[in-house]
Amino acid sequence: MEKTVRAHTNIALIKYWGKANQSLRLPLMSSLSMTLDQFYTDTKVSAGPKNQFWLNGVEQSGQSYQRVFSFLKLLQEKFGVKGNLKVESVNHVPTAAGLASSSSAFAALAGAFCVHYGINLSAVELSRLARWGSGSASRSIYGGFAIWQKGIDNESSYAYALDEKPQMDLQLLVVELNKNPKELSSTQGMKQAQTSPFFRPWLERNQAELAQMVAAIKANDFSKLGSLAELNACEMHAVNLTAQPGFTYFEPATIKAIKLVADLRRLGIECYFTIDAGPNIKILSQLKNVKDITKRFVSEFHNVNIINASFGPGISCLN
Ligand code: ADP
Ligand code: DP6
Ligand code: CO
Repeated sequence: MEKTVRAHTNIALIKYWGKANQSLRLPLMSSLSMTLDQFYTDTKVSAGPKNQFWLNGVEQSGQSYQRVFSFLKLLQEKFGVKGNLKVESVNHVPTAAGLASSSSAFAALAGAFCVHYGINLSAVELSRLARWGSGSASRSIYGGFAIWQKGIDNESSYAYALDEKPQMDLQLLVVELNKNPKELSSTQGMKQAQTSPFFRPWLERNQAELAQMVAAIKANDFSKLGSLAELNACEMHAVNLTAQPGFTYFEPATIKAIKLVADLRRLGIECYFTIDAGPNIKILSQLKNVKDITKRFVSEFHNVNIINASFGPGISCLN
């Protein structure tokens, strides 16, 4: 019986949004994330009569099949192993909607590949491998807070745990405004973003923002963490708007949600937002305010689904 590997999604508080090397997925900046308890991917790799990729019970062809098997081919070459593979994966997160499905997906796939071939790796080695599938997946090896140090080559670009079991009261409310797959993948979006005149200035701020975020976490300073995460996300989306040609992942509902967060803050309900490559908004808050925030969002967005997530665990092998 082959084993299933589970990896949880992670949401970046300091974003990765640009590559120095496309094929190796070497980032232009370091990033910092929070792994979530409520969203994850379960993946099993077994020997097959032919290569096949099943996602949520449906056999895949085209781009998502290609992406999985070009990744697995790289891994097979690296470890000198062979054979057709059957990949069966279930996403407990909307796929390609800006809710970080690729982070849990490629962490779980790298893990399941190693389990299938009996390859034993350290967390750092697994993080490097997962990175080849999707950059953000490098961070999903760990629970709690993780940092992906950009590095200068394949060897030095990997993630490590900053704090796997944070004691901080940090809630991340995912407001599912639109669960449909996006038109522009993260891979394409960040490539386009690099044409913005604000891309370089943003990059120059990365190290300082990351250091400030680490300090906020260490000081258990929710206000600092939230305001910095919001600023960093807005910088990323400003870079998209000013790309040549410009684009945005925002939808009218996204703007409405941003304004609602500002409004709640004015009312003394402290919360901040972050947004990734999709229209959905994630609200950073503390336990005492979750009820009020949820109530207001549900009334303004007509029964929208809101998931209250907090810190999740690192990668694990089930059964
Ligand atoms: P997201 O915001 O969900 O991370 P991306 O554009 O980064 O969006 O990545 C989405 C792509 O990741 C999908 O189109 C698919 O190719 C791949 N993917 C998502 N889930 C899985 C999975 N469970 N197994 C393999 N590949 C997956
Ligand atoms: C906005 O890791 O999905 O979520 O490496 O091309 O697969 P690829 O991109 P991906 O990009 C994630 C972008 C982000 C920010 C982040 O997670 O750091
Ligand atoms: Co992604």
